[in-house]
Amino acid sequence: MACSALRLYNQGMKKDFDILTVFEDRWALATAGTLENFNTCTIGWGSLGTVWGKSTATIYINELRYTNEFVQKNDYFTISFFPEEYREDLNYLGTHSGRDEDKVSKTRLTPVKVGESVSFKEANLIFVCRKLYWDRQSLDQLDKKISGGFYATRPPHYEYIGEVVEVIEK
Ligand SMILES: Cc1cc2nc3c(=O)[nH]c(=O)nc-3n(C[C@H](O)[C@H](O)[C@H](O)COP(=O)(O)O)c2cc1C
Repeated sequence: MACSALRLYNQGMKKDFDILTVFEDRWALATAGTLENFNTCTIGWGSLGTVWGKSTATIYINELRYTNEFVQKNDYFTISFFPEEYREDLNYLGTHSGRDEDKVSKTRLTPVKVGESVSFKEANLIFVCRKLYWDRQSLDQLDKKISGGFYATRPPHYEYIGEVVEVIEK
């Protein structure tokens, strides 16, 4: 049951999503680029909310990910959710890098152009986001238990706040 609403101010419509669990319960794919040149990776971290009077989605992409280069370079990204039957495909895309192989071709997913970005035919919920803000998280400004633990052996994440310009539900 939805416990909070994501309101799309720009489209004058209101959609209900459980903003606390939409990412936790369902992995997603973060994707950026063009159909000819895109990359995607599985994400488990994310949030929905309101910033600067806009409906926003925030994702956290580690700088080690090939996908990070695409989200940095492009003005739009998509966040795509799938029916449960595709979880093994999301697992593959979350454990292999597009730097090493055409990893999407190893899955059952079909890339499609969506708005100014790319998503997948099999997705049943897509947030199309226009990048508003991004930054490399500063470990100096992070809770020391997290910076000394989680990040002891890995570099920081980049944070991307996107305006949700379109929600596609199938
Ligand atoms: C369930 C799951 C959740 C993940 N969540 C994130 C995440 O929120 N942010 C992130 O940077 N990487 C996350 N990853 C790791 C990337 O998906 C993974 O490193 C991927 O292989 C990167 O691919 P790329 O190099 O083609 O971008 C997750 C992986 C899995 C399996």
